[in-house]
Parts: sequence; structure tokens; C-alpha cells
Amino acid sequence: MNNNFSEYIEKAEEKALEYLNKYKKYAFDPSLDCYNSKASYEGSIRRWTHIVQKGLSMSNYNYGSGRKAYDSLVELLLSYSKEYSISEGFYEEGLNAAEEYLKKNAYKINDYQELRKKLDSIPGKRINEKAVLKYESKPKMEYRQMNYEEMVKDRHSIRHFSDKELVLEDVLYAVELADYSPSACNRKGWTTYIITNRDRINEVLRYQNGNKGFGEEIKILALITYDLHFCNLDRELFQAYIDGGLYAMNLMNALHSEGIAVVPLSASLHKEQEEEVRRILNIDDSEVFILFLGMGNYADSNLVTKNSKRNSVKVIGD
Ligand SMILES: Cc1cc2nc3c(=O)[nH]c(=O)nc-3n(C[C@H](O)[C@H](O)[C@H](O)COP(=O)(O)O)c2cc1C
Repeated sequence: MNNNFSEYIEKAEEKALEYLNKYKKYAFDPSLDCYNSKASYEGSIRRWTHIVQKGLSMSNYNYGSGRKAYDSLVELLLSYSKEYSISEGFYEEGLNAAEEYLKKNAYKINDYQELRKKLDSIPGKRINEKAVLKYESKPKMEYRQMNYEEMVKDRHSIRHFSDKELVLEDVLYAVELADYSPSACNRKGWTTYIITNRDRINEVLRYQNGNKGFGEEIKILALITYDLHFCNLDRELFQAYIDGGLYAMNLMNALHSEGIAVVPLSASLHKEQEEEVRRILNIDDSEVFILFLGMGNYADSNLVTKNSKRNSVKVIGD
């Protein structure tokens, strides 16, 4: 057989560089409040809206906290409104989250009048909806009996859990189901690390960026990885993330249908954070991180953030 190693690597490098250039050119800088494309505005507004909503969904709500997210959202909405159409769902959703934040904190912040004036000056429809929703958990059997549409619409990221321990076997059963996920040429290079020890969960979560205010309630933590040994050198630079992502979604749905409350937690870590997690869990250098999943049993009452719809289909006809 011929050895095509250098040819594959040359092409992979080209692809990696092309991706990096596009990433530099198009991905948005979250510290800015002004962009040169509508899509970047939308991405950033959606992100800050979610962060404000997430703060509002915390059961141990800390008045006055989340101010940076609120200020960033308001600045963004203001600059967006000067350039683009304000009759957009994501824009109205952003305004709605800002309104709810301000109402909730009205008596707790010193510069309320100033903030009120500024928010009132931003144009756009006030939809006056709840920025966070109540989620009613159900008996375990009901989760199993849901049809696909019911299940997909019923799943939410749950960020508070009851004190009751989670049964490991239930989690392992869901992992078994997720293994039916499709993968390129059926290679299944994924691994799910299941962490049950409280101290180890805390240790790992120190290096994850999005679990503030609820990480300590997680009963079982999973980390999904994908082993690059399973990838073909020809064309598959990003395959691990594609197959790993498909698997992760299937695992989330399987856990949901077992009546387990789940929050996906980003495993897009800084290099140093990733090295620490690798060390703590003894993960091989060949495995790339896909996603963490925080799990537990449902608490008596759950507030969840909104998962607003986005029109994302383009039908290509004749
Ligand atoms: C790849 C990925 C990373 C995520 N990271 C976090 C995170 O670090 N912290 C968090 O609270 N939620 C995280 N989430 C949950 C999202 O915020 C949530 O999926 C989104 O707002 C939609 O809400 P829903 O899951 O309730 O439908 C993540 C979700 C995904 C898919």
C-alpha cells in the first residue's frame, strides 16, 4: 500500500488554516456591543439574553447579580436597533429578558431610575412574557411513554436537582441506548466518563465555565470524549466533533426518556482547563472533549430558560 500520510496532512493543514481564517473573520467577540453583521448581533444578543434568563432561573436568586450580562444585553440591543429591523423574535426576546431583570431588581439597585430610562429609550415591542418558565416534572413512566415530538418539546436544561441520589444503573442504561447513535462508517469512537464521587465532580467543575450557582447540586457528572484513533486521516479533521455531537444529543434524549434531569455543560475549555480535567480523570491525549452532562433527579419545582425558535431552514427547490 502507498503511504499517503504527507498528502493527507498537507490537506488537513490547509483545511485547519481555512477554518481558522473563517473563525477569525466571522465568529463574534463577546466583549463588543457593536458588530458589522446582523448574524453576529443575533448570536451575541441570543447569548446575553440566555445568560440573563439563566440568572433569573436560579433558585437561590441573588438580587443585583448578573448586572454585567444585563448591561451588555442592553448596550447590544441599543446598537442593533440603530442598524437593523427590530421586528425580530430574538430582539424582542432580549428586550423581554432585560425588562424582567429590571423589574425583579427594581428595589435592589441604586441606579434603577437611570437604568429604567435607558431601557425605555430602546425601541421595540414589549412582549411581556415570562423570561423563565416553570417546568413540571412527571412520574418516571410518563417520560418513557412520550412520543418523539412530546419528548423533544419536553426536554429542557435543568439546573437544580433534588437531594435524592441518582441511580447509576439508570444512567448506564441511557448510555447503552445512546450507543445506537449513527457515526461515520460506524466507528463509534466515543467514551462517556461517568463521575459519581462528590469531591471529584467539584474538582472537575472548577475547570468548567458555566456551572456557577448550581454545579454543587449535580449528582452525577458525565464527560463525553471522542478518540482520534478512530478518525480517518483523509478528510476527517472535524469528524470527532460531528460524531461526538450526535452521540451526545442521543445520550441527552435517552437520559430524558429515563426521567433523569440533565444540563449539558460546555466542554469547550481553555487549554489549561482541559489539561487539568485530563489529569483529574486520566484521559488519554488522543481523546478530544465533546460535552459534559450534569445529572440529577428533578427538584420539586424547576425554572428553565426559554428555548426560543429560530427559523433555520432553507429549502432549495428546482
Ligand atoms: C454544547 C452546549 C454547551 C452548553 N453549555 C452550557 C453551560 O456551560 N452551562 C449551562 O448552564 N448550560 C449550557 N448549555 C445549555 C444551553 O444553555 C441550553 O441548551 C440552551 O439554552 C437551550 O435550552 P434548553 O436546553 O433548555 O432547551 C449548553 C448546551 C450545549 C448544547
